[in-house]
Amino acid sequence: MTATALITGSGGLPLIDALPVTDRSLKTPYGPAAGPVRAGNLGAGRLIGLPRHGEPRGLAPHAVNYRANLWLLKQMGAERVAATYTVGSIDPGLVPGDLVLPHQVIDYTWGRAHTFDESGGRHVDFTEPFDAGLRLAAAEAAERIGLRPALGGVYGCTQGPRLETAAEIDRLERDGCTLVGMTAMPEVGLARELGLPVLGVCIVVNPAAGRGPDPTRIDLAALEKDRAAGLAGAGRLIAALLGLESG
Ligand code: HPA
Repeated sequence: MTATALITGSGGLPLIDALPVTDRSLKTPYGPAAGPVRAGNLGAGRLIGLPRHGEPRGLAPHAVNYRANLWLLKQMGAERVAATYTVGSIDPGLVPGDLVLPHQVIDYTWGRAHTFDESGGRHVDFTEPFDAGLRLAAAEAAERIGLRPALGGVYGCTQGPRLETAAEIDRLERDGCTLVGMTAMPEVGLARELGLPVLGVCIVVNPAAGRGPDPTRIDLAALEKDRAAGLAGAGRLIAALLGLESG
């Protein structure tokens, strides 16, 4: 039985909301993990759900205790991670509501606790930050239920919590980013240190700064609406990956 950790971002997923809250302590050597953590057997596997920002949401992207979250999930037996990320689109071919399974990341964050190895004695390979096998399995599962997530994308991870300037987005585009979000790093790097393969599921909720119909501002009300639709799709995709939903 495979144990999958599901780390959710802004907005929960019904898939894990239905699981019982675990009474396990959220304390770790790195401080408290975000909760409530829910866990249970679903289909042929085990699912452990953790809301990255806490529930109700109380932690901005730079204040999330990524180390504690990943450490707790590993201690609870997680063997792989699926993580949802709401993002802005830089690639004009991506529109709000689209799902993207990224293959690369560029880290623009600073000052976040980004390693378990403070001595710096161990360097993990991070050439491919997201797991190619999981990405392919997720794409196949999605297709079976009629979803077509974009296969591959370069996630530029900014510090937040403010959104970017248009010039910052221009820079990210020149760097090769197709998506922008605030939470994939250091999360994915820490998972690699713990030997946990990661599937990223990005939910496009807005055109990035300077790229929308009004290039002078991001429409935050539209962003909230698109988040709900995108989350529903992401939930179905992950359920299909876990073998809980079929076409
Ligand atoms: N930028 C950064 N993070 C985000 C965005 C964005 O435009 N949309 C959702 N998360």
